[in-house]
Amino acid sequence: MKIIRAKDYQDMSRKAANIISAQVIMKPHCILGLATGGTPVGTYQQLVEWYNKGDLDFSEVTTVNLDEYRGIAKEHPQSYWSFMFQNLFNHVNINPSNVYLPDGTNPDSAAEGARYDAIIQHLGGVDLQLLGIGNNGHIGFNEPGVAFELGTHCVDLLESTIEANKRFFEKKEDVPKQAYTMGIKTIMQARKVLLVASGAAKAEAIKAACFGPVTPQVPGSILQMHPDCTLVGDAEALSLI
Ligand code: PGA
Repeated sequence: MKIIRAKDYQDMSRKAANIISAQVIMKPHCILGLATGGTPVGTYQQLVEWYNKGDLDFSEVTTVNLDEYRGIAKEHPQSYWSFMFQNLFNHVNINPSNVYLPDGTNPDSAAEGARYDAIIQHLGGVDLQLLGIGNNGHIGFNEPGVAFELGTHCVDLLESTIEANKRFFEKKEDVPKQAYTMGIKTIMQARKVLLVASGAAKAEAIKAACFGPVTPQVPGSILQMHPDCTLVGDAEALSLI
């Protein structure tokens, strides 16, 4: 794993956006795997800024998102579909028909997982997968203990994840209890992985993911086995390594 040290959140966002920009410039019809959460927001803002300057063109880019809550429609303001449009897609020239997320309204979880993996396979696989990491080491919604060999599947969210995500909802009871997520297998099949981390709350997870044993107890630790993974973290997130 290549580790890039950033000074602060803004510097992390800029460095991560640089790596994504390089991907889009080198391969304009690339498949970007994207992530939601607080960490990548600054990265998306930076990409929008460069797009507005005329330095980036998303017209041929296709995106596949890591995960989506189960049980809410994409139009729900807290769906990851809405997040992606609010933070990136509404502000750049991406073709909305080239944007993919799991369908949180599909009640058949096996069918939804298979459908989503088939889309990724049909697209030829992900060129660059952006990832955040949870305080507990999760990637996507792959919580500690997950089997590494899973493709896209349905998960029950842990209490700690519901707690961490309740800030986006009016009240905790509104946070969905399940989600569809790319599995570790899906994530590991991406040709490149870009992990972003910011803040002291991530320091233990980053230490365990980068230098601890590779174990399902720390889902992010599998990234040690990825042939082309880059971590961009700010000083606080990297303070223990
Ligand atoms: P965050 O979430 O970016 O909101 O901290 C990251 C994650 O849980 O994967």
